[in-house]
Amino acid sequence: MNSFRVKPLDDILATAEKNSLKRQLGAFQLTMLGIGAIIGTGIFVLTAEAAQKAGPGMMISFVIAGAVCALAALAYAELAAMVPVSGSAYTYTYAVMGEVLAWMVGWALILEYAVSAGAVAVGWSGYFNGLLQSIGWGLPEFLRSGPYGGGAFNLVAFGISLLITGLLVVGTTESASVNAVLVLIKVAALTVFIAVAVPAAKTANFTPFLPTGWGSPLSGSGLGVLGAAASIFFAYVGFDAVSTAAEETRDPNRNIPIGLIGSLLVCTVFYLLVGYGAVGADGAQPLIVNGRALQPGSPEMAAACQGVHNLVCSKEALSFVLKDLGFPSLGNMVALAASIALPSVILMMIYGQTRIFFTMSRDGLLPRRLAKVHKRFHTPHVITLITGVAVAFFSALFPVGLLADVSNSGTLFAFAMVSLGVLVLRYTQPERKRPFRIPNALVWPVCVGAVLGCIVLFFSLSAFTKYFFLAWAAAGLVIYVLYGMRNSDLGRSAQRNR
Ligand code: ALA
Repeated sequence: MNSFRVKPLDDILATAEKNSLKRQLGAFQLTMLGIGAIIGTGIFVLTAEAAQKAGPGMMISFVIAGAVCALAALAYAELAAMVPVSGSAYTYTYAVMGEVLAWMVGWALILEYAVSAGAVAVGWSGYFNGLLQSIGWGLPEFLRSGPYGGGAFNLVAFGISLLITGLLVVGTTESASVNAVLVLIKVAALTVFIAVAVPAAKTANFTPFLPTGWGSPLSGSGLGVLGAAASIFFAYVGFDAVSTAAEETRDPNRNIPIGLIGSLLVCTVFYLLVGYGAVGADGAQPLIVNGRALQPGSPEMAAACQGVHNLVCSKEALSFVLKDLGFPSLGNMVALAASIALPSVILMMIYGQTRIFFTMSRDGLLPRRLAKVHKRFHTPHVITLITGVAVAFFSALFPVGLLADVSNSGTLFAFAMVSLGVLVLRYTQPERKRPFRIPNALVWPVCVGAVLGCIVLFFSLSAFTKYFFLAWAAAGLVIYVLYGMRNSDLGRSAQRNR
C-alpha cells in the first residue's frame, strides 16, 4: 500500500468549492483573528519562565523565536493563498507530501492545539487565582496548582477547560466582533504595561546579560537563550489560525497573507517592548543553586520560590512587574484583562483541534464516528467532549511551561513541514497559480531558514520534551499502520481500484 499517496490539490479545492462557507472575513478581521489567537499565556505568563531560563538575554530569545515564526508565516502565506481551504498544515501536507506525513502532521497538531489549550488554561489560572486572592477569596494552596507547582490539583484551570468545552458543545463560537473587543482588551493591557515599564528601565538590570549563557541544542537542559527561545516560541503561535479561516475569507489570495503576516508583525513589536520593559524595570535574574539555574516548573523551583520575591517565580508576570513599580491598581487591571481575554485563546485552540479532528475523520484517517454531529446543537460533540476532558485533566495536573514546551514540539514539526511543502510544490507544480508568492530569489533562504530555525528550536527544548515528542510520533505511526492506512478514503479507493 502506498502511504505517500497524495490527495490532489485540485480535488481539495473542488471539495472546498462545493461545501464552501460564506466568505465574509476581510483583511482587518483576519488580522484581528490572528492577534486574538497569538496574544495569550505566552506573553502574560511565560515571560517569567523565559527570564528564569535566560535572564535579561530572554530579549534575544524573543527576537529568535519571532524570526523563525516570521519565516514560517511567509511559507504559510504562500500555501494558504494557493490552497484556501480548512485543515491548515494537515491539508497542505496531504496535498504535497502524502498521506503518512499528513497524518503525522495532524497528529502533531494535537500537541499544537489541545496541549496548548491546556497550557493557556494553566497560565490563565495564575492570573485568576491572583485576582481571587486580591479580593480575599483565594483558594487553598493545594487547589491552586498541580503537583509540580507545589499543589495537588489546579481547580480553576480544570474548571475553565470544562466550561469552554461545554460552550463549544452547545455551539458557541466566538464572533468576529467579540474577538475584536477581546483583542482590544489584550492590546490595551500590553500598552499600559509598556507605557509604565519601558520608561522605568534601568541599565543595571541588564547585567549580567547572559547569566545562563546561550544554551545549546545538544545539551538537553532547555536553558540559556536558545532554551528560552524554544519556550517563548509559544507566545507567537496562533498566527496560523488565520489560515484555518481560509474558506470563510473574501478574496483569500490577498487577505490571508495580510492576516498572517500582519498579525505576527503587530504582536512581535508588542512582545519586544514588553520583554525590554519587564527586564529593564524589574530585573530578571534567574534562581541559580549550586551553579545551576533551576528548571522552571520543577518541584525544586517551586520550593526555591517559597517566600522569594522575584519575577522568575511569578505566575502573573506582567502584573507582578507593575505592582513592583508601585502601581498595584494597574497590576490588578492587567490581571483582570488577562482573566477576561485569555479564555478566548483556550476556546480557539479547542475549537481548532475539533476542526482538525473533524477533517481527519472526514478523510477516514480517524473513525468517522468521532465526527458525529449533535442533532440539536449541530456540533461535533463527541470529539469536542473527548478533547475538552483531556485538556481539563492535563491543565489540572501539569505545569504551564511543560505543556507549552510539549505543544511547541508539535508546532515546530508542523511549521517545518509547511516550509518544506512550499519548496516541494515549487518543483512539482511550478505552473500553478500562486496569488502570494515568496520572491523566487528568496524562497530558498526563507524556507530553508524556517526549517533550520524549527530544527534548532526543537533541539533546544528540554530532553524530556524531545523524548516525549518522539514517543508521541512513534505512537502516531503505530495508529496509522493499524488504522488510518486501511481506512482512509484514499486507501479504500486504492484497494477498490486494484
Ligand atoms: N500564543 C498563544 C499564547 O501565548 C498560544 O497563549
